[in-house]
Amino acid sequence: MGDPSTKTPAPRLVRMYLLLSLLCMLSLGFLWRWQRVSQALTNHTTCSGLERSGRRNLTVLLWYWPFDKPFSLTGDVCWDKYRIPGCRLVSQRSLFPTADVVVFHNRELLQRHGDLPFDLPRPAGQRWAWMSLEAPSSNLKRYSNVFNMTISYRRDADITIPYGELQAGEAGGHLTGGVPSNKSFLACWVISNYQRHHRRSKVYKELKALIPVQVYGRWTRTPLSSEALLPTISRCYFYLAFENTISRDYITEKLWRNSYQGGALPWCWALL
Ligand SMILES: *[C@@H]1O[C@H](CO)[C@@H](O)[C@H](O)[C@H]1NC(C)=O
Ligand SMILES: *[C@@H]1O[C@H](CO)[C@@H](O)[C@H](O)[C@H]1NC(C)=O
Ligand SMILES: *[C@@H]1O[C@H](CO)[C@@H](O)[C@H](O)[C@H]1NC(C)=O
Ligand SMILES: *[C@@H]1O[C@H](CO)[C@@H](O)[C@H](O)[C@H]1NC(C)=O
Repeated sequence: MGDPSTKTPAPRLVRMYLLLSLLCMLSLGFLWRWQRVSQALTNHTTCSGLERSGRRNLTVLLWYWPFDKPFSLTGDVCWDKYRIPGCRLVSQRSLFPTADVVVFHNRELLQRHGDLPFDLPRPAGQRWAWMSLEAPSSNLKRYSNVFNMTISYRRDADITIPYGELQAGEAGGHLTGGVPSNKSFLACWVISNYQRHHRRSKVYKELKALIPVQVYGRWTRTPLSSEALLPTISRCYFYLAFENTISRDYITEKLWRNSYQGGALPWCWALL
């Protein structure tokens, strides 16, 4: 997000934390990711211990509800939920003229054919943030010179919000929970949206010709409830953690949650 040597580190930090907090909210549906972000936040807020009075609130306006799912922003959300001072998270478009940051989630932007508020006068100093929780499926060239910052799973985004990450364990530490030992299947795959043209479908077919693959999910009419997902995967040695989209840094819960938390070795495609 620009040059770190600029003279206003405090607002810059605040802004980072604001957006992170916003992202915590957005990720409510992705519980484990939310936990991760909020953990990181708890850490950050202590070092940012910024003055809570005297300075006006920074306003972050969410232009679209990600995935069209509204959530409550009543009360002092930033402080109550994340202990972040001096921040206001809003969704009322009437507050556009006073917003410091306006966040646009890519999926809704696409569905509305790139509908951005160009008809409104854009206040000086206001930043527009392009955000995507998914790998974008279309060309984004038309947005050049529109946004001031990016928020996504990519490591080179201004604000990176990965679905998960590996953390170094303590030296000599032990794995908590252990590795599940009650294995019944060599390889498993949970797949709802099966499309023949997906690269992962081709890999699956080739693999299936060589080894047995136990398949669950809507495609095979064996859907798993969220409670059943990890226990089921834990009975497999390998898990096919294939993404529906191959895109740089795009690694979703299929790896972080299904494989690692399920206790199965992931089989995945890496694109660096
Ligand atoms: C919090 O900060 C400490 C010290 O810098 C670090 O060791 C720890 O990993 C951090 N935790 C998280 C969740 O970021
Ligand atoms: C900042 O926002 C919070 C929550 O909406 C509010 O309680 C507080 O009075 C505001 N502070 C300022 C200085 O406007
Ligand atoms: C944000 O980007 C727009 C379009 O490129 C630019 O006009 C504006 O000055 C930028 N705002 C900030 C605060 O950098
Ligand atoms: C192992 O899995 C089988 C199902 O294949 C189940 O009946 C059995 O109770 C499981 N054993 C343990 C120790 O979890």
